[in-house]
Amino acid sequence: MTTRILSSTTSDPLTSSTNLTRRPRRLRRSEGIRTLVRETVVRPEDLIYPLFVVPQSRATAPIGSMPGVLQMRVRDAVDAARRAYDSGIRAVLLFGLPESKDGIGSSSWDPAGPVQLAIEGIKRHVPDMAVLADVCLCEYTDHGHCGVIVDRNGVKDVDNDQTLPLLMKQAISFAAAGADFVAPSDMMDGRIGAIRRALDERGLSEVGIVAYSAKFASGFYGPFREAAESAPQFGDRRTYQMDPANAREALREVELDVEEGADIVMVKPALSYLDVIRQVRDRFPLPIAAYNVSGEYSMVKAAAERGWIDGPRVMNEILTSIKRAGADLIITYHAMEFAESYR
Ligand code: PBG
Repeated sequence: MTTRILSSTTSDPLTSSTNLTRRPRRLRRSEGIRTLVRETVVRPEDLIYPLFVVPQSRATAPIGSMPGVLQMRVRDAVDAARRAYDSGIRAVLLFGLPESKDGIGSSSWDPAGPVQLAIEGIKRHVPDMAVLADVCLCEYTDHGHCGVIVDRNGVKDVDNDQTLPLLMKQAISFAAAGADFVAPSDMMDGRIGAIRRALDERGLSEVGIVAYSAKFASGFYGPFREAAESAPQFGDRRTYQMDPANAREALREVELDVEEGADIVMVKPALSYLDVIRQVRDRFPLPIAAYNVSGEYSMVKAAAERGWIDGPRVMNEILTSIKRAGADLIITYHAMEFAESYR
């Protein structure tokens, strides 16, 4: 009786298994097979390691909101670049904290500034490391904005065209110190063309430009502003950085930077903008960088510290997702940790 009921309500196991002919799980059966069919692999060479450089008057110190990231004296930055190179990283991105600030960021073109000295030191001691220098005024201005402030009938605004010559001076100074690339992150209109012409006129035509082309006005920059001491003292950056809602406008920004002479274009931040990375990848042939920014890093660190997520696993997943979206290069504070755990 029991047997008869069973055989009438369940199908023959042999018949049911032959009905199922598509079995994607075959490609996931072992780590060996998974490795064989893996589509996206992040390598240390894909990563760009950001370094914050302080003047000699200050000490190397940790950044509270970015566990594992330091503000470094020049000597420590050179040592960090050496260790990064030995771990397989091939590029660093330098940010500077100057001795003094003013309205126009003039300390940024001081040939003895922290970034200039770090460029010279890294190129002398780790010559094959590609050195990128972030070009922007916000770390060097007392008001913390990325350009010159003008007062138009009582309303303060960042003036685009008065800012360009200052960015040109800064870029020339970093290039003359030996930077391989300058990376303008200010989002002024026309800066790529202006910097390209300025470099070429000084005989620095071999120095490249990594353009922060689609840089969004983002809450994810919070911890960076502690690291670089560059928070705006009034207002925000929405009149120059992009509205997070706009992807078509991002393509327009990339198009202009390519026309003006960018060698590499960037989307920033990365994680909330993976669709923008993909669209840029599908339309432009040149290398694309994505910036896995400070807030994206700090969220992982904070949750991992509380035991809420597995930090290294989430790091790998995040970096893989950015590359899968279409980025060739990823600027990330995880770079050293990733490279040291690679293989
Ligand atoms: C400078 C600059 C910023 C970042 C890179 N360059 C901050 C900003 O625009 O406010 C952000 C990097 C990060 O959050 O990791 N303009």
